Amino acid sequence: MIYYPLSVLMLAGIREIAVITTPQDQDQFRRTLGDGGQWGLSLSYLVQPAPEGLAQAYLLAEAFLGGRPSAMVLGDNIFFGHGLPQLLAEADRQAEGGTVFGYHVADPERYGVVAFDSTGRVSALIEKPARPPSNYAVTGLYFLDGTAPERARAVRPSARGELEIVTLLESYLAEGRLTVRTMGRGYAWLDTGTHASLLDAGLFVRTLEERQGLQTGSPDEVAWRMGWIDDEALLARARLFGKTAYGRYLERLVKEGR
Ligand code: G1P
Repeated sequence: MIYYPLSVLMLAGIREIAVITTPQDQDQFRRTLGDGGQWGLSLSYLVQPAPEGLAQAYLLAEAFLGGRPSAMVLGDNIFFGHGLPQLLAEADRQAEGGTVFGYHVADPERYGVVAFDSTGRVSALIEKPARPPSNYAVTGLYFLDGTAPERARAVRPSARGELEIVTLLESYLAEGRLTVRTMGRGYAWLDTGTHASLLDAGLFVRTLEERQGLQTGSPDEVAWRMGWIDDEALLARARLFGKTAYGRYLERLVKEGR
């Protein structure tokens, strides 16, 4: 799973990344991802002691961010679509304010939902509303400027005891500094937060991979295509995975050429 959101940040051209985990899971993530050097990245690790909300990430990462703008992606979100790198790079280029993505879903009550006024402007963001004001969910990908940690400090816990990301986003919205871009139906946004959605995501990815002979969400491939690692480095990674389908896939990439 971690490969998917990691690849998304990489496709946005982001190379300095902090991985926030529970205290007990951190070792396993470190073993899997290391310091990121194998992909031309610099990875740091931060702990969130208790599940106290997504906005808390900006408090935990304040020193890491050092006042700079950032992108946060949730570990259970999968994004797929033609033009995704351009969409992400555009959001990343915006130096001030925030950018989030609205995506039409069948079950908006499971997410943060966008409310629009009569002129079509965004009027509110509501977390898991019993009566959703629209079908547009806020995806788990947030591009925020350097003021995010300061704004996160003003967020108070919600009824479910969390520092809600939508409350943080509303502080940008109140100042007219939030861009909500629609991620159209040509994109797939999947999450893996329930057993059923995990299975759906697995089937979607499998269908694509079988048809195209190309994998989605491979940080090895993305690093290589971005030119952050060369053929030799990719082949070294392929050897690490031995005779698995993933190892053979990486070898084949080098054979086919960029
Ligand atoms: C979180 C956010 C929600 C967002 C969703 C995307 O929900 O709180 O606003 O729409 O991620 O996956 P949670 O994972 O807490 O259910």
